[in-house]
Amino acid sequence: MIVGTVNVVTLDGPSGAGKGTVGVSIAKKLSYNYLDSGALYRALAVAVERHNVDLNDKKLLKKLAINLDISFQAETGSGMTVFLEGEDISGDIALERTAARASVLALYSEVRTALTERQRLFAISPGLVADGRDMGTVVFPDAVLKLFLTATIETRAKRRYKQLLLRGDNVSLPAVWRQLQKRDQRDSERSVSPLVPATDAIKLDSTNMSAEEVVDALMDMIVARGICK
Ligand code: C5P
Repeated sequence: MIVGTVNVVTLDGPSGAGKGTVGVSIAKKLSYNYLDSGALYRALAVAVERHNVDLNDKKLLKKLAINLDISFQAETGSGMTVFLEGEDISGDIALERTAARASVLALYSEVRTALTERQRLFAISPGLVADGRDMGTVVFPDAVLKLFLTATIETRAKRRYKQLLLRGDNVSLPAVWRQLQKRDQRDSERSVSPLVPATDAIKLDSTNMSAEEVVDALMDMIVARGICK
């Protein structure tokens, strides 16, 4: 297995817990690579929509997941540009509709197996910060540090709502709240790789913390473990 050759720090948790912002920042501080595994599920959801694939056609979904032509380009800020088949799909993958479809695709073991293989390829020198739902439990079980970030549903819904408003999306807080709750439930209750903390994960509740405070707290843990560049 690839893990073991480089340090992997996993960052799991439900939607809106702040994993993306915090993960990018920690990866920068460590000069590590960063994996947004949710972007792979979201990109597959966009591919399914574009290619008009039936969500019940598991054979075709598996093929699409194996051959998913996706690439990432780091932006100067904290964001990433995501390309599918050479086309910038960053706008589409940020949509809540895409996230909902991604969480349905994430139920299928064929899809998960294909995307898990993809995700392991990101564990290259000098190290990796991997953000998702099953990074510590399934994809990188030998990670040097496993973090599980949570926050109350109210806080997470408000954070997500703000993000969508900033993007100019026409959304309401109750609708975003309902969508998050539905997705959390689907992610936590699925039979394959459900959203659960790894038994050896350190949990942090970010409800009353700013992103900077979370980054500082996690960096303290990272330094305490002797994980450096
Ligand atoms: O993290 P993000 O919100 O982008 O993920 C979108 C969906 O992709 C999640 O709701 C989940 O169903 C799925 N996902 C997953 N495993 C991961 C990352 C994301 O099942 N490691």
